Amino acid sequence: MSARKSIVVLSGSGVSAESGLPTFRDANGLWRNHDWRELASPEGWRKHPELVLEFYNERRAAAWKAEPNGAHRAIAALEEMHNVVVVTQNVDALHERAGSTRVVHLHGELAYARGTSAKRHRVRLDGNPIALGDLCPDGTQLRPDIVWFGEPVPKLEEGMQHVMAASHLLVVGTSLLVYPAASLAELAPEACEKMVVALELERVPEGFTFRQGKATEQVPEIARKWASG
Ligand code: APR
Repeated sequence: MSARKSIVVLSGSGVSAESGLPTFRDANGLWRNHDWRELASPEGWRKHPELVLEFYNERRAAAWKAEPNGAHRAIAALEEMHNVVVVTQNVDALHERAGSTRVVHLHGELAYARGTSAKRHRVRLDGNPIALGDLCPDGTQLRPDIVWFGEPVPKLEEGMQHVMAASHLLVVGTSLLVYPAASLAELAPEACEKMVVALELERVPEGFTFRQGKATEQVPEIARKWASG
């Protein structure tokens, strides 16, 4: 019986692409069709909150309808034999719905709203919309519980701790272009086995084996290898 591995999965929107959810920078990505400055920044929120709410209401409804795919399921199944933590940039709940029990959301979650006071009081929404005038129990306007560009990443430290303790790191479905999340890939220990899966990647981080292809094809293969070896 092989020793329990400490597996960390650093995932991005590409892992949910085959569940029908758009990525950000690919051909038909969200930021190809929308301006992130207007929709995913504190400035955009101040300027036109109704536009921001509409954008996230649509994304929330789509994510709520989406189903986990073979990549999400293969990652969840690894928990049967190994210690697995998913550190994701994704705001959908497909890792959890596939059965992953330890998921760190670096960029927030669509299924939650939060107040705009310093208390950051959270409210569960599931797939429901937020409207202007929807107030948090502390009386402030509710906003999507998403980390926008220029905002701090509260769970970054937690993500770093997991990656620094990994014996196996799988980076999947992220372009590794957005910091500080992308810096996590560089923190894995020397002895850690490092794999990266994407359709395209501008730069393969040092020490990683690049598996170019679909998450639903590459991830189950890697999971089988790690489950047995
Ligand atoms: N299988 C595997 N990889 C895929 C697939 C697929 N089916 N489809 C796309 N990809 C890969 C692309 O090749 C690309 O490398 O997923 C990556 C998607 O990159 P981005 O669109 O940049 O998305 P992501 O890395 O998740 O963005 C990071 O940017 O906009 C912010 O906060 C947002 O969390 C997001 C962050």
